[in-house]
Amino acid sequence: MIGDFSPEEKDGFYKAVFSRRDVRSHFTSDPIDEKILTKILNAAHHAPSVGFSQPWNFILVRNNETRKQVKDSFDRERTRSSTLVEDPKRSKYLSLRLQGILDCDVNICVTYDPTKFGPFVIGRSSIPETGIYSVCCAIQNLWLAARTEGIGVGWVSILSNDDLKKILEIPEHVVPVAYLCLGHVSNFADKPDLESAGWLPRLGLKDVVFYEKWNNSNDPNWQQIRQMIISNLDYA
Ligand SMILES: Cc1cc2nc3c(=O)[nH]c(=O)nc-3n(C[C@H](O)[C@H](O)[C@H](O)COP(=O)(O)O)c2cc1C
Repeated sequence: MIGDFSPEEKDGFYKAVFSRRDVRSHFTSDPIDEKILTKILNAAHHAPSVGFSQPWNFILVRNNETRKQVKDSFDRERTRSSTLVEDPKRSKYLSLRLQGILDCDVNICVTYDPTKFGPFVIGRSSIPETGIYSVCCAIQNLWLAARTEGIGVGWVSILSNDDLKKILEIPEHVVPVAYLCLGHVSNFADKPDLESAGWLPRLGLKDVVFYEKWNNSNDPNWQQIRQMIISNLDYA
């Protein structure tokens, strides 16, 4: 088929999907090549978006003073959120490494601007959140492109958006969606850090797929795929 993926290209795609990790440590001091960073941003910019509104912006941050202010926001939010959970979970939470703001090469704040090409955006009038969903599609493109280029990405959401808006001079109507840490890494872990730390296990595919109706995990018309789903197709 014209334009179809070769077996090698398919393998490459799935390799990126299954070996992508959220990276909080293992960043090295090597700078990211500017051409590579541009390619990663361009991959993000080619994500789908509701009504083709492309509601994202990417604020690239290298300045150390700015990063320290963001890290201070993380520290405050981490302390605040730790009071929401009791020991022993609280101590475990506080022992986890959950950001690499100062250790990586570049920080990127990805934002959502609801006014872009608005106010009428095709497909956004019934579900306004589709604007934010579009930005998340861009972030996932960025994450996978970065992994393909051997660049680690960590998403830091333990932050105050009010702080971020002040620090980065983001206008009132624009929403910070993600604060990302990007850099070369010494290695990509095989499993999510939160899985290795015993925080949560990965669910089986069979536990998240329903047939025809909510919560129907077994349906006579779906036996073949159900068996395949049960045997799990995880990438080795
Ligand atoms: C919306 C979102 C917010 C996240 N926030 C944080 C965060 O604040 N700190 C952190 O260490 N990881 C954060 N993560 C990463 C998740 O913990 C990680 O994706 C999950 O544990 C699975 O690991 P993996 O990405 O390596 O597969 C976030 C991920 C998403 C999608």
